[in-house]
Amino acid sequence: MRHQLLIATTIVGLASSTSTPAEPPPVPDANVAEAKAIIKSFFGSLKGELETAVAQGGPQNAVMVCKARAPVIADTITKDSGWDVGRTSLKLRNPQANAPDAWETEVLEHFEQRKADGEPVETIVYAETVETDDGSEFRFMKAIPTLEVCLACHGTDLTPEVVEALDQAYPDDQARGFSLGDIRGAFTLSKPL
Ligand code: HEC
Repeated sequence: MRHQLLIATTIVGLASSTSTPAEPPPVPDANVAEAKAIIKSFFGSLKGELETAVAQGGPQNAVMVCKARAPVIADTITKDSGWDVGRTSLKLRNPQANAPDAWETEVLEHFEQRKADGEPVETIVYAETVETDDGSEFRFMKAIPTLEVCLACHGTDLTPEVVEALDQAYPDDQARGFSLGDIRGAFTLSKPL
């Protein structure tokens, strides 16, 4: 009984001294804030270009815009910010460019579990400081929810024109059949500490 009380006191003490949950290892908050800001700008650019391309030539035209522009936007942000920035998924459209490494695969699987446990996809993130051969690295991932606008190219009900464009550009496409609210994938960022 006394033992339980002691634990309770410890947990309360922890909760009041830090704003982050006790579960993941402690990480510098400045890095989390920076990663979130980069993702906001990355997502904003992608979504903006996508919407313009869809408005100009329909989703079948936007497939090729996405193929050409997504890696360029990611590269530009990587160069400007000093962070390695990309997107990944358990079901890939472009496995050459976006395949997850072992750490990312584990985090993505964990994200699916957290969603199944009832956590809103919009807020699912994970941060960790990992040790590599070159020293410490800060890694951050944020789940990407499937929105209405995504369904034209990642949903279950694609037009024949979109199917044709996708089949031509991505013969091994696994990124179809998503529903609203599914985890489409994740932003993945890292930087050396
Ligand atoms: C006009 C078609 C189109 C729309 C709409 C679209 N995407 Fe994609 N998506 C693509 C293409 C094409 C790629 C492959 C890009 C590449 O070659 O790197 C892709 C790749 C991705 C990837 C990278 C992982 C992978 O599968 O290679 C993610 C994550 C993603 N899309 C999420 C989204 C989300 C979220 C939305 C809605 C906000 C969305 N997409 C809307 C066409 C589209």
